[in-house]
Amino acid sequence: MGDDGSDAGDPAGARDTRPGWTVTAPSSPGEHVEDVLRLYLAAFSGPPWHAEVDGAEARRPTLTAHLGRRDVEVLVAHDDDGRLVGVTYGWPGAPAPPDGFHREVADALDPEDARRYLSADAFELVELMVDPAVQGQGLGRALLRTVVGGRPAWLLTHPEGAGVRLYAATGWRDAGGFTDATGTPLRVHVRPAAG
Ligand SMILES: CC(C)(COP(=O)(O)OP(=O)(O)OC[C@H]1O[C@@H](n2cnc3c(N)ncnc32)[C@H](O)[C@@H]1OP(=O)(O)O)[C@@H](O)C(=O)NCCC(=O)NCCS
Repeated sequence: MGDDGSDAGDPAGARDTRPGWTVTAPSSPGEHVEDVLRLYLAAFSGPPWHAEVDGAEARRPTLTAHLGRRDVEVLVAHDDDGRLVGVTYGWPGAPAPPDGFHREVADALDPEDARRYLSADAFELVELMVDPAVQGQGLGRALLRTVVGGRPAWLLTHPEGAGVRLYAATGWRDAGGFTDATGTPLRVHVRPAAG
């Protein structure tokens, strides 16, 4: 695979071993909830996300539901000591008819983008996080590239999040935005299908 993040991958069979980490697609993602919660708190504390305010416990129900979905596609990265240092997950398709959340996303997009990305063949990237101790070494880029593969995809991020530069550098486009019920500004980034 190249380094531009635009090439296809195979999440189901993913296995990417580099000095420092091993990426796998777990067969029982729910078994990783506790480790992912620890990583979540480490990765999303401080600006702009401030996960430390509500804490990991507040995230547990959502994360448990996400990792329990039948259609969830998860990649986990472990270091040489077996410590979880990176996670990404999402799922294909969008509910039809759209639920309130997806309607909000659709309203933030122009009609053509909404049609293309909130569709059965597109991938919704829900989470991407890397342990601050190993950030800046290419793991986030590798996880993103592998989980999305060549599919059209979309995600939400904070305009000041660390992911913004990564997305811009790997073929994603800021396609609109909105403010969620908690007052958090969110940008929708989209990436077309890649050969
Ligand atoms: C975003 C994140 C997953 C990137 O992981 P990473 O392993 O550090 O990323 P990589 O080393 O693969 O770097 C890829 C690109 O991300 C960008 N990037 C990485 N760290 C960054 C930082 N601290 N600030 C801004 N941009 C950053 C750079 O563009 C980098 O490419 P470059 O080195 O060629 O300039 C990681 O910083 C993270 O977990 N942040 C906290 C959680 C988060 O914001 N997740 C995304 C939510 S949508």
